Parts: sequence; C-alpha cells; structure tokens
Amino acid sequence: MLARIAATAYLTPLREGGSLPGVMEADDLGTYVVKFSAAGQGTKALVAEIVVGELARRLDLAVPRLALIDVDAEIGRREPDEEVQELVAASAGLNLAVDFLPGAIGFDRSFEVERDLASRIVWLDALVANVDRSARNTNLLVWHRVLHVIDHGACLRFHHSWGRPEQFSRAAYRYDDHVLVPRGRPRDVHDELAARVTPALLDEVTALVPDVWLEPDPLRPDPNAPATPELARAAYRDYLLARLAAADAWLPEDSA
Ligand SMILES: Nc1ncnc2c1ncn2[C@@H]1O[C@H](COP(=O)(O)OP(=O)(O)OP(=O)(O)O)[C@@H](O)[C@H]1O
Ligand SMILES: [Mg+2]
Repeated sequence: MLARIAATAYLTPLREGGSLPGVMEADDLGTYVVKFSAAGQGTKALVAEIVVGELARRLDLAVPRLALIDVDAEIGRREPDEEVQELVAASAGLNLAVDFLPGAIGFDRSFEVERDLASRIVWLDALVANVDRSARNTNLLVWHRVLHVIDHGACLRFHHSWGRPEQFSRAAYRYDDHVLVPRGRPRDVHDELAARVTPALLDEVTALVPDVWLEPDPLRPDPNAPATPELARAAYRDYLLARLAAADAWLPEDSA
C-alpha cells in the first residue's frame, strides 16, 4: 500500500510544471511535490503516475517515493496567487504526493548515463507510451548522482478513449523525441524486462491506485469506460499485457 499522509502546509508552487504541482509539508514531517486531483489533466494523470511510477520502481529504476495525501480546502487559503488558491480548494480530499528530492538537478544531455540504464528507461517509456521525456522537458532528475524518473501523468493515453485498446497497444513509439535516444537500446533489455512484467506484478501495481480515481469520471463521460474500479484495474493490466504481446509494433527494428 502507498502511505497515507495529511498535508500541513503549502510551501510553494512549482511553476515549471504544467499542472502547477505544489511543494507541501505533511504530518509525517516530510516534504512532497503534490500533484493535485483538480489539475487540468484530471485524476487519470494521477492513476498514470502511480501505475507507471510503481512499475518503474519494480523494474529497479529510481523513482521518488509516492504517497496518498489528504489536503484540506483551507490550506491554500493564505496563498497570494488565486490560481493556486482555486486549485488547492478544488482538490480538497485525496491527492498524490511525490517525495521532494532537495537539490535535485534536471537531467540534460551533458550528463553521463550508462547505456544499460538508458535502455531500461527508454524501454519502459515505449511500453507505456511516454511522450514526456524529451530533450526540452526530460522529466529526469539527478539526485545524489542517481538518475530518477518523474512525471508519468501523460503516459497510458489509452485511458482517455477506452474504446480503442487495440489501436493504442499496437501504436508505434516516437523514439526520436526521447532524450536518451540513441544512448538507450530498448531491444537489448526487452527479453529481460518483458519477462518481469507479469500479470501478478501488474495486479500489484494497479492495486495501489485508490478506488476514487478509477470510478468513471462524470465530467468526461465515456461509454466504454470500465464501470467499476476492479474492472478498471483489470483493464490497465490487460492493456499493458496486450502492449507487451505487440512488442513488434513498437520496438525498434534493430539495436542501433
Ligand atoms: N520529487 C521531486 N523532487 C524535486 N523536484 C521535483 C520533484 N518532482 C518534480 N520536481 C520539479 O518540478 C517540476 C515539475 O514537476 P512535474 O514534471 O512532475 O510536473 P508536471 O506539472 O507534470 O510537469 P509537465 O509540465 O512536465 O507536465 C519538475 O520538472 C522538477 O523540476
Ligand atoms: Mg514535468
């Protein structure tokens, strides 16, 4: 289970993030980057953060610890910025907390990265269709010399239109946009990693997502959306298994 904590203070907005995440303090005395449930990308972004972040962790990539955080509507009230006030008030209740890595530096191409690690990150991003690891916006942090993957809210795009799983599971991946290409060679790690992504592992990961974020979204009705959280968890698992089975459609042809 993900830890459940409560926010005690709003420290500062992270303006570089498109979803306006906030740095908050919690009742476990930790400091967290909070991804808000009412941000433009909706709660599906939070589902993707958990499913992909926890999958990455189980494939031995470094991911900041995730927790579920209760936010009281009052807590943003003293913020001078109205946009922040509104976002925090609208997000009252459950939100996603990402352990804040103090002093972490955004990765860019001037950093060294081992080929094997790059291959693993590129492989995972191709599996989950992550379009958010470009040279301009790497969503990779270097902290204590370890490369950490963050920001998986835009992955698993199939859940924005549930009726076309086949089309998404067979979709090609645009390697040219990835900051770690050509250092990463996903074909080199495919057999090992694909064997580790078992139905049981996917069930373990989707079980971490709270039910409220898996209920059909009344603001974005979709006749093909799973009717219950349990069906939604199975749909994420089956989608990822189908994508693995269709690896020929998205793995690059050679290892160059
Ligand atoms: N755990 C963390 N520790 C330290 N800094 C972080 C952490 N998470 C995010 N940041 C910083 O905040 C920025 C925004 O975070 P993130 O990319 O997760 O948000 P976002 O709103 O989803 O962004 P995007 O605009 O890329 O979609 C990151 O680029 C990074 O600089
Ligand atoms: Mg980002």
